[in-house]
Amino acid sequence: ALALVGPRDLVGRRILISAGGTREPLDPVRFLGNRSSGRQGTALARAALARGAEVTLVAAHLEVDAPAGAALEHVETTADLLQAMTRLAPDHDTVIMAAAVADFRPREVAAGKLKKSEDDERGLTLELERTPDVLAALAAGRAPGQRIVGFAAETEREERALVELAAGKARRKGADLIVVNRVGWSEGFGTQTNDVMIVRADGSVVSTASGDKLSVADRILDAIG
Ligand code: CTP
Ligand code: CA
Repeated sequence: ALALVGPRDLVGRRILISAGGTREPLDPVRFLGNRSSGRQGTALARAALARGAEVTLVAAHLEVDAPAGAALEHVETTADLLQAMTRLAPDHDTVIMAAAVADFRPREVAAGKLKKSEDDERGLTLELERTPDVLAALAAGRAPGQRIVGFAAETEREERALVELAAGKARRKGADLIVVNRVGWSEGFGTQTNDVMIVRADGSVVSTASGDKLSVADRILDAIG
């Protein structure tokens, strides 16, 4: 009997995917983080594996299991992610930055657990510094012919505004495509489904996809080509 398998159209392709969300330590027991579950990134890895690709998954705190069959590397901070991705990228023809990356990190990381004191009565101000932009760095060091894809989660309501933000990010960072989805307090992060537009730097929409994250992943892989 024929097995129910889809096309193996990605045999020979090597795809590097980051997933989850980075965490920036404040002290040994605290961090600044975000609500990314890693569902869309792991769905991309799963879909690419099912289509025959070799997949490397760089995981920053996944709330879900990584698919069997992917080469897996764990990272904690944005600095770790930058290091892992720049080391691994030259070995891959496609790089997908699905991870939610911290934009800022504490300027200083306390060696011991921060304690409250009398002078903190009115609150505490943290000094933050910018993190490096991993996607921009990967695009700047791009191998010939390599495809580089980013994600953007935006709270904008208007579709046109979402496309404009995504195209601007593609241009600034040098990515071929940005996959943009709308997020809010209750949509996007941690959900089973997704609703995305796949946008080029010139503002054209390659395709749109909605549904469970695995079928959205397949449409994203189609758009990358
Ligand atoms: N990204 C990255 N390194 C960063 C920040 C973001 O590689 N320090 C990547 C994300 O993985 C994503 C893309 O850039 O693929 C867009 O992320 P996003 O947070 O939407 O963009 P930012 O440039 O951080 O802009 P914003 O101020 O809207 O957060
Ligand atoms: Ca950001």
